[in-house]
Amino acid sequence: MSILKASKLRKEYQLGEHVVEALKGINFEVKQGEFIAIMGPSGSGKSTLLHLLGGLDSPSDGEVTLGDAHLSQLTEYQATLARRHNVGFVFQFFNLLPTLTAEENILLPLIIDGKNPNEYEERLNHLLDLVGLHDRRSHKPDQLSGGEQQRVAIARALVTEPAILLADEPTGNLDTRTGTSIMELLQRSCRELSQTVIVVTHDPRAASYAARVIFLRDGNIVKEFKPSSKTPLNERMSGIMSTMQALES
Ligand SMILES: Nc1ncnc2c1ncn2[C@@H]1O[C@H](COP(=O)(O)OP(=O)(O)OP(=O)(O)O)[C@@H](O)[C@H]1O
Ligand SMILES: [Mg+2]
Repeated sequence: MSILKASKLRKEYQLGEHVVEALKGINFEVKQGEFIAIMGPSGSGKSTLLHLLGGLDSPSDGEVTLGDAHLSQLTEYQATLARRHNVGFVFQFFNLLPTLTAEENILLPLIIDGKNPNEYEERLNHLLDLVGLHDRRSHKPDQLSGGEQQRVAIARALVTEPAILLADEPTGNLDTRTGTSIMELLQRSCRELSQTVIVVTHDPRAASYAARVIFLRDGNIVKEFKPSSKTPLNERMSGIMSTMQALES
């Protein structure tokens, strides 16, 4: 069963008299527990697509279905609740609150949702295990490395146990090794928590962790790459790179 579905999704931006067609009719379905990477050149519509899938923005036409909810049929308030409970976001620039500790940042979505964080000690410990930050739990963001900050951001995105985790260039600001550890972490949350994960990335190395890679160009899905789960990482990466080259030529 699909957990997330995009049907004939279009997005136009009005820039003065000029109309930018960012997405031109996207159709695709995501199953629970899938790990998907979205790739494509700058300006191809990756972030726009991620925002529409997560209900951060609404399409000009077409429909996003999250579980059994048609996002466009919800009121703004219902859409906010649907997003809060079903979708976790991770961004390129971590977006942590500088005055809060790692632990407080992780718990923040629960507090916003009116929950008592003291009742979530077990969940917090489990997440600190997952992201390997037990000994950094009392650090403020400026006392953490970039990779650690991103791990806090991932734990924060997972704390409400969202059906779907959406990440826009989560490794874009990290060196290769740290980026690899973030992708391994996302892969682990897929495998261990059956977490559905969709990652936007420019980086074929990062994308090779996904089980399915979707290529966008000029607002359309132009290709899909689905390696066998037995394909080693380096072969997946070269497959992704040759697909990228073929699409650029
Ligand atoms: N708020 C906006 N107003 C007008 N045009 C926009 C807006 N946001 C995005 N666009 C345009 O829509 C197209 C798709 O943008 P989008 O940000 O989705 O691309 P992207 O694939 O994420 O690129 P990048 O890899 O550089 O992040 C681009 O041509 C962009 O200029
Ligand atoms: Mg983008």
